[in-house]
Amino acid sequence: MHAFIVTGASRGLGHALCEALLGDRYFVVGIARRASKGLAELAARYPDNLLAIDADLADGQQAAGAIHAALQQLPLPDCASITLINNAGVVTPIAQAGHYPADQLRQAIAINLTAPMLASDALLSATASLPARRRILNISSGAAIKAYPGWSVYCAAKAGLDHFSRAAAAEQQGKSNPAQIVALYPGVVDTEMQDKIRDSDEAQFPQKPRFDALKSDGALSSPAVAARHIVDYLVSPDFGRETVVDIREL
Ligand SMILES: NC(=O)c1ccc[n+]([C@@H]2O[C@H](COP(=O)([O-])OP(=O)(O)OC[C@H]3O[C@@H](n4cnc5c(N)ncnc54)[C@H](OP(=O)(O)O)[C@@H]3O)[C@@H](O)[C@H]2O)c1
Repeated sequence: MHAFIVTGASRGLGHALCEALLGDRYFVVGIARRASKGLAELAARYPDNLLAIDADLADGQQAAGAIHAALQQLPLPDCASITLINNAGVVTPIAQAGHYPADQLRQAIAINLTAPMLASDALLSATASLPARRRILNISSGAAIKAYPGWSVYCAAKAGLDHFSRAAAAEQQGKSNPAQIVALYPGVVDTEMQDKIRDSDEAQFPQKPRFDALKSDGALSSPAVAARHIVDYLVSPDFGRETVVDIREL
């Protein structure tokens, strides 16, 4: 069995990743606050291959706990590979420094950076003695390297996620069964996150017209197309050769 744990599975890119993985006959555990609801239709189509776990990843205990709960439901000795896709994320608060809603800032760092670090830690510790191939894919963003005014919280979290991926990948070097860890930029994908970007205040996010134009020009990837490309890369021999990749350059 090849098992995949996907966070942010209830909608958007995470849901499309689950659908692509299930279509390829892999076993999937989907995690989100509303995973059971968001995955209900896929669960009806793939009743033997999909589990949903409802968890709020802004809560560090739930972030690690959801991974342990997922692993407990898997037949670990029968798993040839176990892959964690840290996909859940929020672009909010779209606000410049000097205008931060403090609660939203803490929430964003918790979801975009702390949760993937704790989830990765949980996976690596719980699977350390298994022979299974282990992979971690962190869904990052071009915002990790491009400074967008108004997205300073998101940019900081994604830059942190990239560098966490580099450091954690370096920690695996020389281990007997090293996990492969990659951060990936998925391109601009037509999800609720893009709706939020187009709904933002241009005074806080001056590049809003550019994102309005990407939508009206049909330049966004569909979640299904982006997910297909990501899954093909994830299961290819190329996965792990580089630690930070942009799917548009693969
Ligand atoms: N869309 C783009 O153009 C784009 C570009 C670059 C990078 N990305 C990255 O791609 C990833 C997916 O984004 P998306 O566009 O698919 O976003 P989305 O449509 O807004 O979906 C976000 C997902 O994250 C989950 N989530 C949010 N807060 C959560 C929490 N507290 N606990 C658990 N789950 C939570 C949501 O589920 P619940 O609400 O059910 O919890 C949902 O499943 C993110 O990491 C994002 O930064 C997206």
